[in-house]
Amino acid sequence: MDYNVKGKQNLKASLTVPGDKSISHRSVMLGSIATGKTHVKGFLMGEDCISTISCFRQMGIKIEISGTDVTIYGNGLHGLKAPEETLNVGNSGTTIRLLSGILAGSGFKSRLTGDSSIQKRPMDRIFTPLSLMGAKFKNLKDSIPEGKLFAPFEITGSALKGISYVLPVASAQVKSAILLASLYAEGETKITEPEATRDHTEIMLNHMGASIIKEGAEIVSGGEVILNGCEIDVPADISSAAYFMVIGTICKNSVITIKNVGLNPTRTGIITALRQMGANIETTGVKTISGETRGDITVSSSKLKGITISKELIPLLIDEIPVLAVAACFAEGTTIIKDAEELKVKESNRIKAMVTELKKFGADITETGDGMIINGKTPLKGTKVLSYNDHRIAMSLAVLGLACEGSTTVLDCKCVNISFPGFFDIINKL
Ligand code: S3P
Repeated sequence: MDYNVKGKQNLKASLTVPGDKSISHRSVMLGSIATGKTHVKGFLMGEDCISTISCFRQMGIKIEISGTDVTIYGNGLHGLKAPEETLNVGNSGTTIRLLSGILAGSGFKSRLTGDSSIQKRPMDRIFTPLSLMGAKFKNLKDSIPEGKLFAPFEITGSALKGISYVLPVASAQVKSAILLASLYAEGETKITEPEATRDHTEIMLNHMGASIIKEGAEIVSGGEVILNGCEIDVPADISSAAYFMVIGTICKNSVITIKNVGLNPTRTGIITALRQMGANIETTGVKTISGETRGDITVSSSKLKGITISKELIPLLIDEIPVLAVAACFAEGTTIIKDAEELKVKESNRIKAMVTELKKFGADITETGDGMIINGKTPLKGTKVLSYNDHRIAMSLAVLGLACEGSTTVLDCKCVNISFPGFFDIINKL
């Protein structure tokens, strides 16, 4: 599917975007290994989260879906059944990495695979700490060098022990895989993060009865614990809201409100960065439900200036960098994005993808080893661009198409269903 969009201004809208992807994944995973029923409201019915549901159903968990309500009938920590077929995570890095943490401590053998993008993404980052805990992995492709792990692979559930581990990369997926394995491990597990990353796993585990403690950069899990099924109210995904925050900021004479958006401080880097660039952003009605803060975000057309985005801010907006690069094209002066090499190992190489495609619109943008440099305010004109089959690239390019002159075609856009089914319907309504 290709998507055509024309430049627009005077956008006035109040809208909602679907539920948070990270929280939706975790609700199914933790709900499945909890005791009793977990009821989730506002679940993201995107392809990635549906992959997570399918994997747990294959392991004998009863999961009912009604609209965006999901009920998971947990079987307890040791209640998963060995899957008969290979578990397929589709395009979802969160599913394969977090699920590996759970399977590492299971009493059975399982095989995991995913689409062509997943098969290229590094799994050593979970292989190293989970192996130290006692997990056993085997590559299912012959050509993989010793010490490396790529999907498809096999995990043999084993007796685990707690570890002290310093994360070499700031990754919530790796931290969460270790935390989930720690539930099956003898003794305490300590994880040190180079920079703070999203803490939805810690929040949900504690909401279900665990006691995960954060002391500075260290996160401590005490080992085996009984998790209790619970109510989870998923806020709207700030990563999806980000597209409309940027639209409201860069399109002339516009005001957009996005309702009930997750405002967990480990995810609000996009608000911090846009505000530093000069964007008018207000949050209202802020409240906390099931441990997660949420509120309404209102943005209006703003005069932006270039800034430098680096270090500890990067993990707080890692998925929003493609759309932030779009905002930077409309900012006076230079925007430098650095310390963001992680973007190279996402669903696509997001540095290369954005630099290549934004140039086609007329942007002055240069790729660097760990990010990009954008000189804003060059004349931009609609064009034909590629999505790289990456949902966040497709949506970011559509945002630019909406804000610049002329007509833009984003090719191969079906991938938006990974995280944001209905994205184009909302854009069309605008
Ligand atoms: C996620 C963590 C981030 C993020 C991904 C979702 C999560 O990945 O990019 O979209 O739900 O834990 P990394 O842990 O690889 O940084």
